[in-house]
Amino acid sequence: MNILVTGGTGYIGSHTSVALIEAGHEIVVADNLCNSKASTIDRIKEITGKEVTFYQVDVTGEEALDRLFSKHHFDGVIHFAGLKAVGESVEKPLLYYYNNTVSTMVLSKFCLKNKVKKFIFSSSATVYGDNKVPFVETMELLPTTNPYGETKAISERILKDVANVNPDFEVSILRYFNPVGAHESGLIGEAPTGIPNNIMPYITQVAKGKLEKLKIFGNDYPTVDGTGVRDYIHVMDLAEGHVVALEHLTPGVHIYNLGTGHGASVLQLVHTFEEANGVKIPYEIVGRRPGDIAESYADVSKAERELGWTTKRDIYQMCRDAWNFERNFKE
Ligand code: NAD
Ligand code: UFG
Repeated sequence: MNILVTGGTGYIGSHTSVALIEAGHEIVVADNLCNSKASTIDRIKEITGKEVTFYQVDVTGEEALDRLFSKHHFDGVIHFAGLKAVGESVEKPLLYYYNNTVSTMVLSKFCLKNKVKKFIFSSSATVYGDNKVPFVETMELLPTTNPYGETKAISERILKDVANVNPDFEVSILRYFNPVGAHESGLIGEAPTGIPNNIMPYITQVAKGKLEKLKIFGNDYPTVDGTGVRDYIHVMDLAEGHVVALEHLTPGVHIYNLGTGHGASVLQLVHTFEEANGVKIPYEIVGRRPGDIAESYADVSKAERELGWTTKRDIYQMCRDAWNFERNFKE
């Protein structure tokens, strides 16, 4: 299939681009580079040995999309492009609501206009809010504590309403848990600008000596050791989940959790990282981070049953690949 990958130079989009090419699909990447670099395209080419067409465009802009959809025929769109910093979304709500929901509306409009039937959307476990774990796709979505989370819930609703009146439209909403790790080549991975918000890049930067120590946000949660529990998933397993979801699309809206189904606490993650890589991660316990929940992990039985997809890489490999990328990474 010929697939438009929006946000394809970003963290998850670049790994999925590799997985799509390796599964025999052709891709066109569209990204405005607000949180990634064009050189990622060269890395994708280096890993796959295939050419990749890239456009630097903002996918909220109708004129640019008009040109893109006139030039190429797509069988499907995988829409990763979005802003994802939770804290920044509180500071700049309009930017987040505009970017993340308008892009979904404009892209689905162009799909319908150009008879592109398949649409995959990057949603997040954050839409479950403080539901009881494990999170199941049928649960009522609970309000999240920040505009970022709301943009995901709103985008899901937009896609459901659009599909409702366009019975040929095939939509897959993928709710990601906590993607970590990197491609085994170490050529692509997660390289946030500034001080990382998320735990794995923070840990790898402590390991590298760029940051002094990890601050663990709270050890008084009702969890196995008091620290927050998350369902970490290797980014290549997540990437392969997109390929399978694409290949299984049928008309209507299909929602899948993409996680491992197992939670790990912050302390368990730190100790696994130390063991897997033979490095020490100094840390201190500080207060809870506002908006954090105690536990998040997926019920993955629907993706297993309907897509035949399960994760293959364990938390040791996530830690090894994350460190391998950070060690090779040059600013
Ligand atoms: P990322 O920031 O690395 O990638 C997103 C890409 O989208 C970037 O390359 C950025 O330049 C691009 N982009 C943003 N707005 C754009 C626009 N208007 N037009 C064109 N390009 C634009 O983030 P990621 O971690 O790869 O996340 C991909 C998607 O998955 C996002 O929608 C994110 O919200 C979602 N998601 C991520 C996580 C996570 O923990 N990483 C978890 C759940 C969901
Ligand atoms: N944590 C620390 N110290 C840090 C960073 C994080 O102790 O420096 C802890 C958090 O308190 C939490 C766990 O590590 O218990 C994971 O935190 P992350 O920030 O890595 O991930 P979150 O689960 O908070 O959120 C991430 C994305 C969201 C997305 C969600 C579900 O940032 O956008 O996963 O996919 F919605």
